[in-house]
Amino acid sequence: METLEFSKCRISIAIMVFIISVYALPCTLCFTSFVFGDSLVDAGNNNYLFTLSKADSPPYGIDFKPSGGRPTGIFTNGLTISDIIGQSLGAKSFPPPYLAPNTQADALINGINYASGASGILDETGFLFIGRVRLREQVENFEQSREYMVGVMGENRTRDLLKKAIFSLTIGSNDVLNYIQPSIPFFGGGDKVSKTTFQDFMVSNLTIQLKRLHELGARKFVVVGIGPLGCIPFLRATNLIPRGECSSKVNEIIQGYNQKLSQQLNRLNHEMGHEAIFVYANSYDIFTSIRSDYHKYGFENANKPCCGGYFPPFVCFKGRNANTTRTSSGLCEDRSKYMFWDAYHPTEATNLIISHKLLYGDQTICSPINLRQLYNYNIS
Ligand SMILES: *[C@@H]1O[C@H](CO)[C@@H](O)[C@H](O)[C@H]1NC(C)=O
Ligand SMILES: *[C@@H]1O[C@H](CO)[C@@H](O)[C@H](O)[C@H]1NC(C)=O
Ligand SMILES: *[C@@H]1O[C@H](CO)[C@@H](O)[C@H](O)[C@H]1NC(C)=O
Repeated sequence: METLEFSKCRISIAIMVFIISVYALPCTLCFTSFVFGDSLVDAGNNNYLFTLSKADSPPYGIDFKPSGGRPTGIFTNGLTISDIIGQSLGAKSFPPPYLAPNTQADALINGINYASGASGILDETGFLFIGRVRLREQVENFEQSREYMVGVMGENRTRDLLKKAIFSLTIGSNDVLNYIQPSIPFFGGGDKVSKTTFQDFMVSNLTIQLKRLHELGARKFVVVGIGPLGCIPFLRATNLIPRGECSSKVNEIIQGYNQKLSQQLNRLNHEMGHEAIFVYANSYDIFTSIRSDYHKYGFENANKPCCGGYFPPFVCFKGRNANTTRTSSGLCEDRSKYMFWDAYHPTEATNLIISHKLLYGDQTICSPINLRQLYNYNIS
């Protein structure tokens, strides 16, 4: 009996020592990430803007445990891909939105989320929604965070922390959505440029921001390609695409862009040698493979969104009577059986599968290495 008590005690001391060492050595074991992008990864920045692109009413966030199911500005029912990946790699909590009050100090531990719904790579993208933080501005905001970090830890320790941190960019969908709307003239008011020119604009404007981040100390990059937007409920309904099919016109534009993007990331990897690494995340093929075999992944519906109905105006929020879960907009019974949460965004269930593939996938999914390998990768 005594020995048992004794060993119990030893175990709890060992646990305490472990806990103390984890907290005393910030970032030997923790996961720091800086997240840039659009509504696919916005952690609530748009709540602080005057904008039409907001997810601040129920049932958004209904499965998000940290908020007890209340909406936080996240554009899905639960976790986003960047949050799931952070959690799997040991993040203690999710990077908070940059625009929320008192989040500066998080840069030192968890990282910060700069992403903003409706934003794009190109400055003009998303103007119909009024407020959004463009990619260029997201990078400027990171510059502010970096200044804060240097103030607290000095230049050298900041450089060391940033060298280990993961910088993810999930952006480009809104640029394409704007480009294909017949009612929106090409940015600047002129005629639309050709598809190839448009794809080149996106890649070269994105490259400027990647290089800027690199100058500021970012070394480990994940750049997420655009998914098959031609298959999202919004585009399928507005383009009258039959059940089970996608808009090939839209998907061709995206595939052209993704190919140029992955080539550009290859080029950057060659240019920079061991000094930085750029991972291309092939979300297009991941999403397509889940969709074509959705039963195997436990889904019952790969066409309709869980929330907001299948036809315009796709409004996904609760009616006046906050007690009813089934309203005119409708909420599906089992959220884990749907690939789409609303007309634009995947459910948490889909995000979980995508994240798992990004973490463990082979080179057809993440190249040159997957996200688990990226986390363990040491920059010289
Ligand atoms: C920062 O690093 C540089 C070169 O790596 C070194 O010369 C300098 O002394 C360091 N500064 C501090 C404050 O440690
Ligand atoms: C960035 O995109 C804009 C269109 O929004 C284009 O006019 C400009 O030339 C692009 N910049 C580069 C460096 O490609
Ligand atoms: C919602 O339910 C609560 C308790 O179940 C009740 O007190 C309240 O009046 C209901 N609200 C509406 C708008 O029906």
